[in-house]
Amino acid sequence: MLDLKTYLSRRARLVEEALERLLPAEDEFPASLYRAMRYSIFAGGKRLRPALVLASTEAVGGSLHDAMNTACAFECVHTYSLIHDDLPAMDNDDLRRGMPTCHKAFGEATAILAGDALLTIAFEMVADSPVADKERLLRVVKELAHAAGCMGMIKGQALDMEAEGIEELSFPLIEDIHIHKTGALITSSVRCGAIIGGADTPTLEHLTEYGHSIGLAFQIMDDILDVEGSEEEMGKKVGSDDRNKKATYPALMGIGESKRLATELVERAMSALSTLDERAEPLRALARFIVERKC
Ligand code: IPE
Ligand code: IPE
Ligand code: MG
Ligand code: MG
Ligand code: MG
Repeated sequence: MLDLKTYLSRRARLVEEALERLLPAEDEFPASLYRAMRYSIFAGGKRLRPALVLASTEAVGGSLHDAMNTACAFECVHTYSLIHDDLPAMDNDDLRRGMPTCHKAFGEATAILAGDALLTIAFEMVADSPVADKERLLRVVKELAHAAGCMGMIKGQALDMEAEGIEELSFPLIEDIHIHKTGALITSSVRCGAIIGGADTPTLEHLTEYGHSIGLAFQIMDDILDVEGSEEEMGKKVGSDDRNKKATYPALMGIGESKRLATELVERAMSALSTLDERAEPLRALARFIVERKC
């Protein structure tokens, strides 16, 4: 079986080398903006979304070289979402990836701008991909914009903020929050890797189903880890959801039921890959990682 730890760290290194090339140097003017962007990107992080882009492209026979800019683009959009999510007006957290949050280190205005800049540079990275079939890149731009925007992640973040403190939590509401705030970008990372690799329609549908399932499972586990994880392993404060009275799975159904549901979703993700061959082994390992992770 694939050694996931080694696999993930090798992939993370490749992605970080590419990001190093693609992001503006920090001695360029205005240095505080570029320093803030790099600070948050290179603070660490599991690099799960870029790993999914690359694993998905490989699963359909595509090349890592073609998909690398898109993998980096997903990490930029994700990191921007973390910078803004941590702002005082949102979750008001001061620790991220084991370091002070961007606004703690650089001030709120620079953190907002660093987030804006990471979001926009992501599209430039996709457009600059060395992919011969430009039609595929156009599809990726649309997919990424849709997943990150007001029908995807931003919708989820808006619902998450509106649901803070409400007494009557319901299953449909929490599911709606989670599939948008986190699931949309994760599903899209899987889809975009497959699109760049030239997946046919049935395979893309199976991979979409896989992405939906792991995306929701990932946020359920994030909620669980906010209750029983360790600050040291995760590099962020635990108990933030309780403090902010967030709508989470553990708050709705308890830890045990939440874990059972996350495991069931990962099994569903595995079944969605049943028609794919051994090239989908990294995707299978990534799905297992989502429920086994401690960070
Ligand atoms: C944290 O994402 C925010 C969520 C969407 C749950 P990750 O747990 O992937 O954070 P990093 O990238 O490893 O820091
Ligand atoms: C984050 O959800 C979702 C996005 C950043 C889009 P959380 O608010 O639960 O993420 P953490 O726990 O702060 O990483
Ligand atoms: Mg949040
Ligand atoms: Mg948060
Ligand atoms: Mg959380």
